[in-house]
Amino acid sequence: MKPSLCLYVLALAFLAVACGGEKEAAQDTAPPQETAAPAEEAAPAPPATEEPAAAPAEPAGEGLTGDAANGATLYAMYCSACHGMEGKGDGPGSAALEPKPANHTDTAFMSTLTDEHLYKVIYGGGPAIGKSPLMTPWGSILTEQQIYDLIAHLHVLSGS
Ligand code: HEC
Repeated sequence: MKPSLCLYVLALAFLAVACGGEKEAAQDTAPPQETAAPAEEAAPAPPATEEPAAAPAEPAGEGLTGDAANGATLYAMYCSACHGMEGKGDGPGSAALEPKPANHTDTAFMSTLTDEHLYKVIYGGGPAIGKSPLMTPWGSILTEQQIYDLIAHLHVLSGS
């Protein structure tokens, strides 16, 4: 029993040393490779790949067109409890809320809100635009397209 246990412990010790040794070896060799080679190659490469990648990323969202009809369905499902079926801010849940849910038929108010702002508040909730957390975030439930559909419906509701 005892000798074999000793061997086992020895074997473990060897493994530990071997692994530790390998790690050290890897750490010793890796950094010089990283710093030596890319210094020359990296400089010209990133500007070429980063710019084209960043450019389409922004217009992709802005370019999306919302489907107001689908937005109306989503609105009934997710927003009407507070904002009301017709968007007047008088949904069944609104009585208990302070501040009151926005009145989406208020053309004067709604016309001051950009699509970017609407996207932000629907995606991140009131706090994303410095308003009440009672306006809940929908970014984890809705797709980007669905948010644009809702924005299209908000334009219909507000006439703006
Ligand atoms: C739990 C209740 C609740 C639900 C559900 C809700 N909202 Fe709101 N919403 C609010 C409240 C409350 C405010 C007012 C926040 C404030 O004025 O601080 C608000 C404000 C807003 C505003 C105005 C933002 C601004 O700049 O003043 C928009 C736009 C909006 N909601 C869209 C939506 C959409 C679209 C949905 C559905 C996806 C939705 N809300 C679901 C409670 C809700």
